[in-house]
Amino acid sequence: MRVGMLTGGGDCPGLNAVMRAVVRKGDHTWGDEVVGFLDGWKGVVEGRTRPLDVHAMRGTLPRGGTILGSSRTNPFKIDGGVERCQATLEAERIDALVAIGGEDTLGVSAKLHELGVAVVGVPKTIDNDLNATELTFGFDTAVQICVDAIDRLHTTAESHDRVMVVEVMGRHAGHIATWAGIAGGATMILVPEEPFDIEEVASALTDRHQQGRYASIVVVAEGAVPKEGTLALASGETDQFGHVRLGGIGSVLATEIEARTGFETRVTILGHIQRGGTPTAFDRVLATRFGVAAIEAVHDEAFGQMVALQAGDIVRVPLADAVGELKLVDPALYHGVAEVFFH
Ligand code: F6P
Repeated sequence: MRVGMLTGGGDCPGLNAVMRAVVRKGDHTWGDEVVGFLDGWKGVVEGRTRPLDVHAMRGTLPRGGTILGSSRTNPFKIDGGVERCQATLEAERIDALVAIGGEDTLGVSAKLHELGVAVVGVPKTIDNDLNATELTFGFDTAVQICVDAIDRLHTTAESHDRVMVVEVMGRHAGHIATWAGIAGGATMILVPEEPFDIEEVASALTDRHQQGRYASIVVVAEGAVPKEGTLALASGETDQFGHVRLGGIGSVLATEIEARTGFETRVTILGHIQRGGTPTAFDRVLATRFGVAAIEAVHDEAFGQMVALQAGDIVRVPLADAVGELKLVDPALYHGVAEVFFH
C-alpha cells in the first residue's frame, strides 16, 4: 500500500517514535511505501512531501519534535483547501492516510473521512485532553519536565521564603498542572476546570505562612480562569481553529498574590520547554504501540477510526468520539487527592 502520514498541531515528544513504528511495521509486514506530508495539513494542501522509509526513520526514536514539521493549518478554512487536499492525495496515489494530531487535526480527519478519504487517527497532545483515550503520548514527558522544574523551585523558594508561581501548559484542561502539582508537592493547583477566587488563593497562602510554614509553590495551568468578575485578564490572537494564544496568567497571579499577601512572589513560565526534547521511556513505548496499531488499522481498513489507550490496551474508537468533547481532569483526582495537600 502507499500510505500517507502527517503530524499536525503543536509538536509533542514521541511523534517521531509513532512514525518510526508505522514505517517499520508497514515495511516488514506488508512492504508498504510511506509518504510524509510536510507541516501538517499545509503539506497536503500544497502537495509537499518527503519519502519515509526505514532508513529515513533511523535514529528518530529518542528525537523530540517531528521530522515532518507541523502547523495549525485547517484546510476547511482555506478557499479550495479541501479540494486541494483531495487532488494531492490522488496525485500521490495515497491509499490511506495516518494523521497524528490532537483535537483539531483529528477533527479535520473526521470531516475528510466523511468525504471519502481513508484515514486513521493517532492521538497526540501533551495536554492529555483528548477524549476516548486514557493517555496521549507526550503527556508523561511534559509532566516530568514540570516536576523537575518544581523540584528545583522548592529549594530556592525555601531559601528566600518566597511564593513561586509555576505556569504550565493546559489550554482547556488541567491534566499537566494536576499531575505535576501532585508529584511536585504543590501548595495549590489552579486549573481551567475550577475557576479560582484570587482572594481565596491569597488568604490560603497567608494562613499557611502564619502557621509557620514557609515558601509555597502554586502551579497554574495557562488556561486557568478567575471566577467571573474577580480579576481582569488580557486576551491574545487566535489561530485558524479559533484558539486564543494563552500564556500570562502566571504573571498576573504572581503580581496579585504579592499585592494581597505581602509575600515576595516570583513566576516561572515553563512554556514550550514542556514540549521539547526527548520523550520519556513511557512515551516512547506508548507512541510505538500507537504506531504499530495505526498501520494495522490501515490494513484492516478501519478508516474513520483512531487508535486509543483504554484499560492498558490499545483499541480503536471512532474519530468522532475523540473530537466531540474534551477530556477534563477527573474531579476525584483534583478534589479527592490534589486538594488534600492545598495548605
Ligand atoms: O499542543 C497544545 C499546546 O501545547 C497548548 O497547551 C498550548 O496552549 C499550545 O499548544 C501552544 O501552542 P503554540 O505552540 O502554537 O503557541
